[in-house]
Amino acid sequence: MKPAIIVHGGAGFVDGERIPRCREGCEQAARAGWEVLAAGGGALDAVEAAVRVLEDDPEFNAGRGAVLNRDGVIEVDAAIMDGALRAGGVGALPWVRHPVTVARRILERGEHILLVGGGALAFARECGIEPESPEAMVTVRSRARFELECAGRLAPSATGDTVGACAIDAGGQLAAATSTGGISWKRPGRVGDSPLPGAGNYADHLAGAASATGHGESIIRVVMAKFAIDRLRSGLGADEAARAAVDELGGRVGGEGGIIVIDRAGRIGHARNTPCMPWASVQGGELAGGV
Ligand code: GLY
Repeated sequence: MKPAIIVHGGAGFVDGERIPRCREGCEQAARAGWEVLAAGGGALDAVEAAVRVLEDDPEFNAGRGAVLNRDGVIEVDAAIMDGALRAGGVGALPWVRHPVTVARRILERGEHILLVGGGALAFARECGIEPESPEAMVTVRSRARFELECAGRLAPSATGDTVGACAIDAGGQLAAATSTGGISWKRPGRVGDSPLPGAGNYADHLAGAASATGHGESIIRVVMAKFAIDRLRSGLGADEAARAAVDELGGRVGGEGGIIVIDRAGRIGHARNTPCMPWASVQGGELAGGV
């Protein structure tokens, strides 16, 4: 099996001046995941490495630079899953920079699938992962957005601008990971699609892996990532399955978003119904990408 990885930086609208930075951020993340795969590493390690790069990048709504909730707190959601249907996820986890790694620890522990809020934070601390200070997590851009929303001068975002990655390794193992700050101006405690297996994230050795992005409440209703995987199982190609999932999101519930997909043969696909969705992939050492 030839390894491959695809990442996304969230469906939505990207201002012209941010486009090169978002593109570069996705390329760096895809390269980080590819380095793991090229060294013989596993798909789970690759998607975690790629998503950690995106969580560090202040351009994206995940980890550092994530949106603030109505109380001015960053609460993040994330998930990771492998093709053996092992999964871990965290929801409404406050001030943690790399929630994908907390999700990975939950997957490895195998006791639960999803931990939220204070329980997720206690588990993170048990794993030696501490929350960061607001100064380390809140960017000028996310603070400005929050202040405009507080003043009623900016409508909350209708999409989550989530990040994610899907990979297949040399042994044919599949994995997907997704991480987000969620939609802006969300209520404290709101959990979106990203940490929910089947909604924002899914992997299955019988078919492929998928990571969704967009309006979480809509994505949950159509169980979008599983919808794409089921299309792969019924014989659609990766691009067709991604398009079918986005059409389901828009057509059934009027949702906005996008998805990346990788099938068990290592073919990649992506689709969106938003103006932009930065993405990047590496297959056979060749980097590709777009916005
Ligand atoms: N898709 C990210 C969210 O709605 O939380």
